[in-house]
Amino acid sequence: MKLPMQTALITGASSGIGVDLAFEFAKRGHHLVLLARREDRLLQVKSDILSQYPALQVHILVQDLIQDDALKQIQQFLTANNISIDYLVNNAGFGLRGQFHELDQQRQLDMITLNVTRLTELCRHFLPSMLAKNSGGILNVASVAGFQPGPKMSVYFASKAFVLFLSEGIYEEIKPSHVLISTLCPGPTASEFGKVSDMENTRLFDHGVMASAEVARIGVDGFFRNQAIVITGFKNKILAILNRFVPRFLVRKIAHFLQT
Ligand SMILES: NC(=O)c1ccc[n+]([C@@H]2O[C@H](COP(=O)([O-])OP(=O)(O)OC[C@H]3O[C@@H](n4cnc5c(N)ncnc54)[C@H](OP(=O)(O)O)[C@@H]3O)[C@@H](O)[C@H]2O)c1
Repeated sequence: MKLPMQTALITGASSGIGVDLAFEFAKRGHHLVLLARREDRLLQVKSDILSQYPALQVHILVQDLIQDDALKQIQQFLTANNISIDYLVNNAGFGLRGQFHELDQQRQLDMITLNVTRLTELCRHFLPSMLAKNSGGILNVASVAGFQPGPKMSVYFASKAFVLFLSEGIYEEIKPSHVLISTLCPGPTASEFGKVSDMENTRLFDHGVMASAEVARIGVDGFFRNQAIVITGFKNKILAILNRFVPRFLVRKIAHFLQT
């Protein structure tokens, strides 16, 4: 029996990992709603996807997720276009590097709104209908940063730890159902993130930066295999595992060193 085509809402689909996540869902035959702030970039992604997958419906939704009424705007858009969401991909996010007490406070709070609050709100909004249908799922993009504290990026690391713990908690809660939830934990990845987050010249980004297409492929493969946590790349897996065995004071020091 051929299943009806399903729709994935992908946030942060205008650049980097989000673009490749959109291609991965398109490859598997899913219609798309691509969300970000930059309309020109979204239109380009839409046209690139449709040139490869002309049978798909690809909508673009220009929305700043930091705005208080973001969820309401998303709901209105979906209702107006008669779209129901089967897959939610919470990928939009950014980081800030610097001393906690010196970084711009409003930017830090905006980061928490985007990386934590909006992600939580979107999960809470879409999960009940997925559970009612007993299908679909949520792919949350955290980071290997979620496994430890991150001096010089303290708020960012804490925000990704939140995403990881939230998603793992929900994973256990909904396990009896067929609804999927995975946390994608990339390490350094080529995208606009390095520039936006002022990470480009750090030791962390010196070696082993992965391609966003590879990160997205591994992430979506793991998601459809119902993996709770998907860590991309051998080096990142080792780092995440080592965290459990290395004393905490050393973990903090290494993270500080890498962020410099
Ligand atoms: N690259 C890495 O090394 C790395 C490593 C681990 C985890 N991650 C995570 O991976 C995710 C994707 O990042 P990326 O590396 O692909 O970086 P990116 O190229 O900077 O992409 C970030 C995406 O988020 C969107 N976005 C940012 N602020 C937004 C807002 N207020 N409202 C709506 N959309 C917004 C951006 O679109 P607009 O600017 O058009 O709004 C863009 O599409 C993030 O959650 C990041 O934390 C990245």
